[in-house]
Amino acid sequence: MVTSPPSTAFAIFAQRYEAMTYCDEVHAVGLYGPRGGGITEREGAAHRVDVIEGTLAKAFGCLGGYIAGDAALIDAVRSYAPGFMFTTALPPAICAAATAAICHLKSSNWEREQHQYRAARTKARVKLVCAKKEIERDLKFRDLPDQCRSLHTSKKSA
Ligand SMILES: Cc1ncc(COP(=O)(O)O)c(C=O)c1O
Repeated sequence: MVTSPPSTAFAIFAQRYEAMTYCDEVHAVGLYGPRGGGITEREGAAHRVDVIEGTLAKAFGCLGGYIAGDAALIDAVRSYAPGFMFTTALPPAICAAATAAICHLKSSNWEREQHQYRAARTKARVKLVCAKKEIERDLKFRDLPDQCRSLHTSKKSA
């Protein structure tokens, strides 16, 4: 039985079979984890993942992205995959803004709490709207003349 969070279990499994792991945290950095490191940080599994991909856009509101991993691995990417790199570096102003955003979200939980609160509220509203629609459908069905209702029921069970 797996009792650890999925990313931890997955990383442990990969380590056992000496497989490399690459985790795209683009939709998670800034939003999850006590310092905004993403799902792997939240689950205490970041140190088990070989490469973590993040963005400086989305939650950080800037531009560009990064991969994080052991120095030797990052050096190998630099040496063997130069085609994946832009020849123009990020402008200093963008780098400064991204650094400020990362520093802020490392220590401020307010944005993460607001995000969770708003997501939960939206989900609850959607649930409520669906329940209301279901009730309206049931009420409409209840008001149908008997003949129509039995036709509807037999159609549904067919
Ligand atoms: C899963 C995933 N990875 C990577 C990226 C690239 O991120 P960015 O456009 O912020 O560089 C995106 C963009 O939407 C994405 O959805």
